[in-house]
Amino acid sequence: MTLPGEPTIEKRIIYRSQPFGFDTAVLAGILSAARRNNPRYGITGALICRHDVYLQLIEGPAESIDALYAVIEGDDRHFDVRLLLSEAVGERLFPAWSMLDDTAPSLFWSAGDVAAGALEAASPEELRAPFIRLSAAHPG
Ligand SMILES: Cc1cc2nc3c(=O)[nH]c(=O)nc-3n(C[C@H](O)[C@H](O)[C@H](O)COP(=O)(O)O)c2cc1C
Repeated sequence: MTLPGEPTIEKRIIYRSQPFGFDTAVLAGILSAARRNNPRYGITGALICRHDVYLQLIEGPAESIDALYAVIEGDDRHFDVRLLLSEAVGERLFPAWSMLDDTAPSLFWSAGDVAAGALEAASPEELRAPFIRLSAAHPG
C-alpha cells in the first residue's frame, strides 16, 4: 500500500548497445518514436549517442519499462544490446524529458574503453554518473 506522501516506486534501467548505421537521420527517427510513445506509457529518460555506442536510461512503471526494453532489444538499428543496471527508484532523474538526447560529450569512456568492455565493468555509480550530470544540466 502506498501512503500519502510516499514516493511511488518505479523502475530504472540503463543499457548499452552498438549503433548499426548511425547517422543523424537514424537518430532523429529513434528520438521521434521515443517522444511520441514514451509519454503514453509514463516513461522518461535520456539517450547518450556516439558512433560506437548508445547508452540509454529509461525510467517509469516497471511493466512499461519491461515492455519497452523488449521492443528496443529487437530493433535492428542497433545490436549487442546489454542490460547494465536495473533498479527500483523513488525519484526520477528525467521527470521532464520524454527522451533527452545527448551526443556524448558527457561520456568519459573513449571508444577504445567501450570496445574493451568498460561499460560492463563499470559500477552502478559510474553508470549513473553521466546521466546525473546530464540531468543537472537539463532540469526541464
Ligand atoms: C537506441 C534506441 C533507443 C530507443 N528508445 C526508444 C524509446 O525510448 N521509446 C520508444 O518508444 N522507442 C524507442 N526506440 C525505438 C523502438 O525500438 C521501436 O522502433 C519503436 O518503439 C516503435 O514505435 P512505433 O511502433 O510507434 O513506430 C529506440 C530504438 C533504439 C535503437
